[in-house]
Amino acid sequence: MFYIGIDLGTSAVKLLLMDSEGKIVNIVSREYPLYFPHPGWSEQKPQDWYEQTILGIEELIQDVDKSQVAGISFGGQMHGLVILDEDDNVIRPAILWNDGRTGEETEYLNNVIGKEKLSAYTANIAFAGFTAPKLLWVKNKEPENFARIAKIMLPKDYIAYKLTGVHCTDVSDASGMLLFDVRNRRWSQEMCDICGIQVSQLAKCYESYEAVGTVLPEVAARLGISQSVKVAAGAGDNAAAAVGTGTVGDNMCNISLGTSGTIFISSKQFGVDRYNALHSFAHADGSYHLMGCMLSAASCNKWWMDEIVGTKDYAAEQQPIEKLGENHVFFLPYLMGERSPHNDPEARAVFLGMSMDTTRADMTQAVLEGVAFALRDSLEVAKSLGIELKSTKICGGGAKSPLWKKIVANVLNLRVEVPESEEGPSMGGAMLAAVACGEYANVEEIAAKVVKVVETVEPEAELVAKYEERYQQFKRIYPACKPLFR
Ligand code: XUL
Repeated sequence: MFYIGIDLGTSAVKLLLMDSEGKIVNIVSREYPLYFPHPGWSEQKPQDWYEQTILGIEELIQDVDKSQVAGISFGGQMHGLVILDEDDNVIRPAILWNDGRTGEETEYLNNVIGKEKLSAYTANIAFAGFTAPKLLWVKNKEPENFARIAKIMLPKDYIAYKLTGVHCTDVSDASGMLLFDVRNRRWSQEMCDICGIQVSQLAKCYESYEAVGTVLPEVAARLGISQSVKVAAGAGDNAAAAVGTGTVGDNMCNISLGTSGTIFISSKQFGVDRYNALHSFAHADGSYHLMGCMLSAASCNKWWMDEIVGTKDYAAEQQPIEKLGENHVFFLPYLMGERSPHNDPEARAVFLGMSMDTTRADMTQAVLEGVAFALRDSLEVAKSLGIELKSTKICGGGAKSPLWKKIVANVLNLRVEVPESEEGPSMGGAMLAAVACGEYANVEEIAAKVVKVVETVEPEAELVAKYEERYQQFKRIYPACKPLFR
């Protein structure tokens, strides 16, 4: 049988076709526009997502026996606010995970409602990109739109709805809304009251590996697949990526170098850190995870290469970089503000330390290192909770770079294990579909059977020591610059 995994990303939708044994049969990617209508705002049109997803599925399965397609599921960009009216029309463009407009609402939730209450209700505090502050923003700034809301959804759930007609979400993605009681895996009535909504305006919440329904007859006809194809709830892209890289069960780690950068630690136990610096979310395997999320990771390198250096040949730019751990240039990677651990939408990127002998390669290196240092900030929070890690998986576009993997291994002092495919969320989505269809008993079983590590990058003691010194300097830059960002 075949399973389709849909990674509804920020720059593109990536689709993956997997067979019953976990072999990747085809991969397709289709881009859509991202809108920045004001500085710090970030929006997309749900209609664009759906159009490109359907075209992508058509392309993905054009050369296979379509009657063998059994299931579809997702990894989706998290936290985005999609609002539908009572006829299921999209009310306004989706407000995305990396949108920083909700400073006031975030402040209100954290300081007027209070972090203790938020943490007690949801296991998390408010971050500008989370969904509840966006709902409050719509309520405050666009009351006419707020009054029309019949359903509140997350990005991938809009695609699931279009495919099946079912309003659904899953526990991992719901966790990032600040409307969900993560420990008990159910909606929080208290948070709905605080945001002025009814629980009935939220979608029905499933475990990630549960089927929510089958494809609608018109979808089946358009794609040439059976009407019995099951659609599973899927997961937020980070939980899906964790499934795709085998980061399931207890104390496993995955780093994603995508548009965002995340460090994801799976856990059988529910847990919260004292300052809520890490997100405490439900995992797609039925358990929990902690996660640090930086808003700009591979996108820092993309910005530096595409917009500033003016090249698409990223590998050629990295080729002259040799002297790791000795760079005199630092880069703060806060192009869109920062989430973990600073929770500061007003933070911005900084290059520091250039001199007349600084080269373009030094600055490229600083960008890659700055992202690794910022991931280390979240790892430090995890360590302060007593979490001990020796290794991590890695995925996302940035994981294609051998140099970046080496920098990450040495800055974080972790063995980096590279799975066969760096397609984390789409692979995870396909795996969740296979579990929903009964091909595998559960998520841990499929992860153990299909995820293969093909390369290992070991940290080197001398380089780890050099990077330790550099990290201690890096840590001091944000506090020094913070007042200047206001
Ligand atoms: C996670 C987060 C990002 C997006 C990227 O909290 O906001 O990783 O999910 O798509």
